[in-house]
Amino acid sequence: MEKKNLDWANMGFGYRKTDKRFVSTFKDNKWDEGALIEDDMITMSECACVLQYAQTCFEGLKAYTTADGRIVCFRPDLNAQRMFDTCARLEMPQYPVDKFVEAVVKTVKANEAYVPPYGSGATLYIRPYMFGINPVIGVKPADEYQFRIFTTPVGPYFKGGAKPITIRVSDFDRAAPRGTGNVKAGLNYAMSLHAIVSAHREGFDENLYLDPATRTKVEETGGANFLFISKDNKVVTPKSDSILPSITRRSLMYVAENYLGLEVEQREVYLDELTDFAECCLCGTAAVLSPVGKIVDHGREICFPSGMEKMGTITQKLYDTLTGIQMGTIEAPKGWICEIK
Ligand code: PLP
Ligand code: COI
Repeated sequence: MEKKNLDWANMGFGYRKTDKRFVSTFKDNKWDEGALIEDDMITMSECACVLQYAQTCFEGLKAYTTADGRIVCFRPDLNAQRMFDTCARLEMPQYPVDKFVEAVVKTVKANEAYVPPYGSGATLYIRPYMFGINPVIGVKPADEYQFRIFTTPVGPYFKGGAKPITIRVSDFDRAAPRGTGNVKAGLNYAMSLHAIVSAHREGFDENLYLDPATRTKVEETGGANFLFISKDNKVVTPKSDSILPSITRRSLMYVAENYLGLEVEQREVYLDELTDFAECCLCGTAAVLSPVGKIVDHGREICFPSGMEKMGTITQKLYDTLTGIQMGTIEAPKGWICEIK
């Protein structure tokens, strides 16, 4: 298989159409077998449930070329399970976990020529998604759905790659208590668009959302969870019912404890205590580990001692170990790596 001739090293996080995508239809209460197709366009009723009532959810994972030339993806079973949980919350039909993983493998295999080479700094982003497609005018769930997967080669989510970013404390909330913050519903991202546009306009890279009930605790950003490193090297991550259970964060907490021998803690993190931490980073599939140099809370600057030039020492160790596992240079825990054959 010959790779596409793309400028892998200078890719941003953008959409580029690849050759094949997977589509499965839910009708008469069952999923069909699904197939790989070439057409990237979707035709639907003007009254499709997704268009009127935003009944849609998605997932995000990546495929990597390993140092020894294999193509792998990272913990796709956890994305499958998270979408299964999201669908239950959104009254959507659940796509079986094993079928989801099979479909990811098939789609990546069909777009192998777009998986960026090892060491290029780019990866193949995989986007599974589902939406209600039949016309619905009274507010109720759709009866017909499509589950789809497309892939697109991507570079770093934040411009500048591993350079520390600056984020601001948002005046907007991301998720209501007992709302949908803990699932990957499209609506969570729709409501974040105004906040991200205004953050960018004011020169910030992202928003830090607070817990909506008390606005005293750190939740997450629009597309990643937080990790904080204490001055005695403990890895701390916020605990909340309204943040997305990041697969990267769960993996990093395991890596911190079992590969790096660090103490880890998942607990409520107060905005007031951020000045006590030595390092801060965002973690997620798209963000990987993005160091945060500064958090601005209405003019008050919280500057982490790791600074604005490079990643903190522990953040760097976590980054190296996680990406080493993903790229096959460090042995992975059992079941974490799914080879595309
Ligand atoms: N939080 C939000 C709101 C996200 O959109 C994402 C991205 O999927 C994450 C966290 C990170 O999750 P994961 O590590 O599973 O990609
Ligand atoms: C991901 O990391 O896969 C996401 O879905 C986050 C999104 C903001 C790109």
